Amino acid sequence: MSQYEAEIKRRRTFAIISHPDAGKTTLTEKFLLYGGAIAQAGQVKGKKNTRAATSDWMEIEKQRGISVTSSVMQFQYEGFCINILDTPGHQDFSEDTYRTLMAADSAVMVIDAAKGVEAQTRKLFKVCAMRDIPIFTFVNKMDRETRDPFELCEELEKELGIDTYAMNWPIGCGKEFKGVYDRQNRKVIHFTSNTNAKAATATQIEVDDPALAELIGQTKHSQLVDEIELLDGASCDFDMERVRHGKLSPVFFGSALTNFGVEPFLEEFLRMTTAPLPRKAGDTVIDCFDEDFSAFVFKIQANMNKAHRDRIAFMRVVSGRFDAEKEVYHMQGSKKLRLSRPQQLMAAEREIIEEAYAGDIIGVFDPGIFSIGDTLCAPSKKFTFDPIPTFAPEHFQRIRSIDTMKRKQFLKGVEQIAQEGAIQIFKTPYTGMEEVIVGVVGTLQFDVLEYRLRSEYNVELYKEGLPYEYLRWVVREDENAEPLKEEDLLLPNDAKLVEDYKGNQLILFASQWSIQWVTERNKGLVLAEFGGAKF
Ligand code: G4P
Repeated sequence: MSQYEAEIKRRRTFAIISHPDAGKTTLTEKFLLYGGAIAQAGQVKGKKNTRAATSDWMEIEKQRGISVTSSVMQFQYEGFCINILDTPGHQDFSEDTYRTLMAADSAVMVIDAAKGVEAQTRKLFKVCAMRDIPIFTFVNKMDRETRDPFELCEELEKELGIDTYAMNWPIGCGKEFKGVYDRQNRKVIHFTSNTNAKAATATQIEVDDPALAELIGQTKHSQLVDEIELLDGASCDFDMERVRHGKLSPVFFGSALTNFGVEPFLEEFLRMTTAPLPRKAGDTVIDCFDEDFSAFVFKIQANMNKAHRDRIAFMRVVSGRFDAEKEVYHMQGSKKLRLSRPQQLMAAEREIIEEAYAGDIIGVFDPGIFSIGDTLCAPSKKFTFDPIPTFAPEHFQRIRSIDTMKRKQFLKGVEQIAQEGAIQIFKTPYTGMEEVIVGVVGTLQFDVLEYRLRSEYNVELYKEGLPYEYLRWVVREDENAEPLKEEDLLLPNDAKLVEDYKGNQLILFASQWSIQWVTERNKGLVLAEFGGAKF
């Protein structure tokens, strides 16, 4: 195996998905600690607060002390080169969060053991499931009172439509948490908490060892024996092929905060995931080991430095090796170019890089030429990656410039920001030129939009909240068919036909019920949950 192949083979690129507060940051931090990328716990979390002082990112980030964008971290662990894609959760949930998942080859889903499947997990899971990428579940906070583990697994299966396979099984929870039973090695990893330190010690003991009953207590022991029997009898078989295709999720129980079960999870996870996955470009499949460099843009971060109005385009390297010296071909711009100032994030730090391999994420200075989904490839072998889907916004406003004289700046600004992918914009047949319907995945983007229009385009906004929460794309079999008119459809009062600026037709809905109503009453109308991509 050449050194080039070895470099690609050791790469693992995954996203961590969860509902806020399930423990994603804590788990990420523990991973980074193992990889030596950070020296002490608290550095990743601390960053949330200290970033305000150190970065010159958007003012809004400073004001709120949060990150508006998703970040990527690279670290080394036992020979693997790991890229973690963070999917921001709290107020800063945005379409970027979804798009980041397009760059991942697998996902780690963190579940709070007391809460089970929560709203945001469900949304992020759906996006991973649509690409059939492997999903590994970490059921966190076992050191607290939790729900019944059987019930949790059942909920995962029922709510998310994926089979589960418990790799280990918890013994008790909260104050009574005694550790986990490792099903593969038939060993119990015993948990001893240190009351003041946020770290547990783990010792291993054979499940058949008579000392086990003494260690965890007679009741817990007999319960464990029963549960093992139940598990072995009732659960489906472990099937690696099904894991690789996202049909079966290996489930691990642990506690990120006390660092219990994190390292075994990381090791098993790395063993089970694969080297970078191929990506489709029409009828062609681009494999990570293809000699020629290729990448696609999945995120554009504007305003990294306000003084220069510059942008960073984040791209996922799909094949080959990126060499800062070599020219690449930008398909959508039909131009050869040299990517300038490529950067990579190493835990908390940014650094300029000279080379990157398939699986890596690089951030490239963008003078305004890239769009989400753009392809970069070798000048000698041109192709275009399948587009990144557009995800449905969930919050909508009608906006216009308070000062009617500033209509031009307003439209320019709104279109520019929409092109970067932070917002989506729509119009109705009755919308005048001066008014736009804007849709966002997370409400923070409304603030970002308002702030940017004010600071960059000198436009003050008039905003009006709209009651819609769902958006569906109208699918037309015949691409040349006449656009639908409102009169052609039977729509309730709380649904509205709109158009995006590329001419796609969409319907806004206020409720799930309304979607169902429209689907039932308009025979032949096909609605899609995602826009613009084939799977
Ligand atoms: P997130 O990124 O998914 O939003 O979650 P984060 O890691 O920030 O964790 C949310 C809260 O849950 C934090 O507490 C964190 O310490 C706690 N936590 C994470 N993992 C575990 C665990 O395994 N056991 C227990 N008991 N708690 C856990 P916080 O009070 O909000 O923050 P902090 O004061 O601890 O920093």
